[in-house]
Amino acid sequence: MYNQPMLKDDALKGKTIVVTGGGTGLGKAMGTYFLKLGANLVITSRKLEVLQKTAQEMEADTGGKVLAVQCDVRDNAQVENVLATALAKFGSVDVLVNNAAGNFISPTERLSANAFSSIIDIVLKGTVNCTLAFGKHWIKEKQPASVLNIVTTYAFTGSAYVVPSACAKGGVLALTRSLAVEWGKYGIRTNAIAPGPFPTKGAWDRLLPGDLAEKFDFKNRVPLKRVGDHQELANLSAFLVSDFSNYINGEVITIDGGEWLQGAGQMNGLEAIPSEMWDMLEQMTRGAKGS
Ligand code: HXC
Ligand code: NAP
Repeated sequence: MYNQPMLKDDALKGKTIVVTGGGTGLGKAMGTYFLKLGANLVITSRKLEVLQKTAQEMEADTGGKVLAVQCDVRDNAQVENVLATALAKFGSVDVLVNNAAGNFISPTERLSANAFSSIIDIVLKGTVNCTLAFGKHWIKEKQPASVLNIVTTYAFTGSAYVVPSACAKGGVLALTRSLAVEWGKYGIRTNAIAPGPFPTKGAWDRLLPGDLAEKFDFKNRVPLKRVGDHQELANLSAFLVSDFSNYINGEVITIDGGEWLQGAGQMNGLEAIPSEMWDMLEQMTRGAKGS
């Protein structure tokens, strides 16, 4: 059931949605579902051929309209060009999904200053560049709109070995909550999704290269014992950019099967205790009464 489309057919009809990093992975999955729900779609990233191929596939799959625009989110002029091109084609833009990201695993002491900056520039500053360009436009036009930021669960916990990404995603989360308040008066909602593990080539090649994927089997870290399905993320994102979520503002919704909490709860490791040991342990804990 969770891998089935959730919203009614015309839930996003008339909306124009820009998805950064929309040519691959989760951006592609979200964009495809937005189209199925009647939206016009703009996808952007650095690789135009990838975008054009995805746009063709999406149009064939859904019958919707897709505009592919090359844009490195680190470059403000290219971001402004996305906005202008989208307005010229569709007349207005209603939603920005900040999904583009860069990441790789590394002990932090092995990173050059430039390596650290490159992730901050894509994830935090790229999100800021897009949000500022679109936000200023919406405020000037007095147009209600919404921003959806794709973060990660380690935006709130932090994480070793992906420290630039954790810092950048933490910043995006702060941006989400700050603008939800500051721009609420303009009718601009700002929310975030924190996904747990959803297999994509982009993430797996950089976070679990070689046989790490087998050794570090993500589903074992998840109480529900599975990884995410792209459609369930698409369902949540479609709800958050639709008018059905009109009173949700400044929220970050975690979709991770309980993964980060499993890592956090102090006694969660007791899961490893076989059920037959619990009788003995109960006797011991009861016996400790009064001592
Ligand atoms: C150490 C590295 C490195 C590595 C690059 N660098 N890879 N350092 N270990 N594995 C260094 C380079 O040497 C350079 O520093 C600096 O980083 C910039 O590298 P470039 O290759 O010039 O950068 P660029 O071409 O801009 O590419 C950006 C990138 C790349 C982030 C490095 O991986 C990329 O294009 N990623 C986009 C897609 C992606 O990452 N998707 C995954 C998102 S997953 P010097 O000092 O040498 O100049 C995600 C999941 C979260 O976020 C949670 C999942 C569970
Ligand atoms: P992905 O396929 O690698 O997506 C990243 C996208 O960002 C690519 O399409 C890439 O396209 C684009 N991009 C990278 N640098 C860019 C730049 N400078 N300017 C514009 N676009 C750029 O990986 P994914 O797994 O789908 O990740 C999508 C989002 O989900 C990311 O925000 C990621 O942090 C988040 N996330 C993923 C997972 C997971 O398990 N997969 C978990 C938590 C969070 P180009 O290379 O063409 O530029």
